[in-house]
Amino acid sequence: MISKKMLDAINEQINLELNSAYIYYGMVAYFEAEDYSGMAHWLNIQAKEELEHAQRLFDFVNEVGEKVTLGALDKPSVDYKDPLDVFKAGLEHEKFITASIQKLYELAKSEKQYAAEEMLRWFINEQVEEENNFSHIVTLLERAAGKSGSLMMIDGKLGQREE
Ligand code: FEO
Repeated sequence: MISKKMLDAINEQINLELNSAYIYYGMVAYFEAEDYSGMAHWLNIQAKEELEHAQRLFDFVNEVGEKVTLGALDKPSVDYKDPLDVFKAGLEHEKFITASIQKLYELAKSEKQYAAEEMLRWFINEQVEEENNFSHIVTLLERAAGKSGSLMMIDGKLGQREE
């Protein structure tokens, strides 16, 4: 059993997670076009992770015997100024997602939706990692300050991300 308010909010989060994947695929398109294959690889894995986040919520809705509703996705950007611009946008997006997850969690608590609360705890922890990943790369890129040798090294490092 799940309240209507909780169900609507989770369905909304499914849309946000799918949108996250779409945003990161837009970034992959940018990096592929600019020949930063390592950064493209990193964001490709990130996009797949977002699909998994959506799937987790999707499965929960099904498990509690409700029906998922799907909304439209927003058109993502494929144009950025430089790698730092991309990862800064990613970090801001993750902060936005964290705020959304926290609102969901607060709703679960206030509505006494214990199963949802339990399921959302995973997302609370995951968001710490998500923000930290982007923040770390922003720091590396800021240190590199556009130097092509350093950028290539970062690209190589990000190309090693495992699924
Ligand atoms: Fe699904 Fe990157 O948060």
